[in-house]
Amino acid sequence: MSSHDTSLKALNTFAIAADATEIITAHNPDELANAWLAAQKEKRPFLLLGEGSNVLFLENFAGIVVLNRIKGIEVTERDEDWLLHVGAGENWHQLVVYALNHNLPGLENLALIPGCVGSAPIQNIGAYGIELQSLCEYVDVMNLETREVIRLGASQCQFGYRESVFKHTYRDGYAIITVGLRLSKNWQPKLTYGDLIKLESTSVTPQQIFDSVCQMRRSKLPDPAVTGNAGSFFKNPIVNIALAENLKQLYPTMPYYPQEDGQVKLAAGWLVEQAGLKGFTLGGASVHQQQALVLINKDEATGNDIKALAKHVRNVVGKHFAIWLEPEVRFISSVGETNAVEALS
Ligand code: FAD
Ligand code: EPU
Repeated sequence: MSSHDTSLKALNTFAIAADATEIITAHNPDELANAWLAAQKEKRPFLLLGEGSNVLFLENFAGIVVLNRIKGIEVTERDEDWLLHVGAGENWHQLVVYALNHNLPGLENLALIPGCVGSAPIQNIGAYGIELQSLCEYVDVMNLETREVIRLGASQCQFGYRESVFKHTYRDGYAIITVGLRLSKNWQPKLTYGDLIKLESTSVTPQQIFDSVCQMRRSKLPDPAVTGNAGSFFKNPIVNIALAENLKQLYPTMPYYPQEDGQVKLAAGWLVEQAGLKGFTLGGASVHQQQALVLINKDEATGNDIKALAKHVRNVVGKHFAIWLEPEVRFISSVGETNAVEALS
């Protein structure tokens, strides 16, 4: 266990200049649980962080931040697949590269998603036609009070679009420590989204998919190392078919994704752009020019600048389309996570 200085600026991809009272790096589950125990004893707030790519610090954090850096990748070959047993503190994109380099295909559509492997199940990361849930065999979660490790199979994780049990039942007092991923030996390319549909399904290689995904992402999404951001700020709204059809009649070119349950997912970025907000700036925060679903730290933004911009975007889109966007990003106050929808209402 090791301590850092107390600045969170380099530890969140929005690059918000907030402080914690203490920052600790945990390399194994015991160090995580020890930090939790210390926080409980001292009645101090406790926050687990991976790489800070899905959080917004609204103010200084008045407690202990613990960086999960539990490492390790173990590969087991089975009859029909490979099982990857991966420490929660491994970097997700590096795992994708590792798998590709070891001829273990299946993760390539999820290239370049920032963050840790242990954070991936929390919102069931997804991109370019694949969600983590289709690859997840289990998630090991530790009860920080008792140090008991519980293995949850994929169905127990209750995965949904940007959803899982780790946002609810297994949130406070639990830490994800390992993730088990299953990569089928019967690899099938997934070529349903964006430029991937241009690839030839009979001859395409995992490397070509990886390259294409990286190229699409780099052309649209700002690099957090250059411009602070947390990817999509809002979730894509899922609306009933009547509302979606009404909008489709008004806007025939509107992106429209029917869901299995009969509802329709709309593109929040399209709604924000249509509402005239691309490039809109408030304080140090701005709506990204290439992708209106991404809010950026344009010029030394505070957490409150980003929040004020998000509130404005939500209100303008709500008044324009009667659709009220919900943040994907997790809002962190001085004492811990706070309800993001309420914060913007
Ligand atoms: P953090 O931001 O550190 O933490 C997120 C939440 O999880 C916090 O509430 C934290 O307390 C909690 N947490 C962290 N670690 C643990 C743990 N071990 N156990 C329990 N709780 C924990 N997401 C997608 O789904 N698809 C994308 O295509 C995508 N693209 C992105 C592009 C960019 C440029 C950026 C900046 C973000 C993007 N994201 C995307 C969002 C983000 O990458 C994912 O949500 C990622 O999984 C977050 O990982 P993290 O380690 O940074 O989590
Ligand atoms: N669009 C616009 N204007 C914009 C942005 C998008 O018209 O400013 C349109 C696009 O032209 C396209 C549609 O909206 O027709 C969807 O856009 P895109 O393909 O860029 O994807 P997205 O819905 O904005 C989602 C995820 C991303 C993920 C991509 C690729 C959510 C909230 N976001 O974005 O995930 O990388 O699909 O699969 O589901 C993240 O979660 O942080 C994230 C980046």
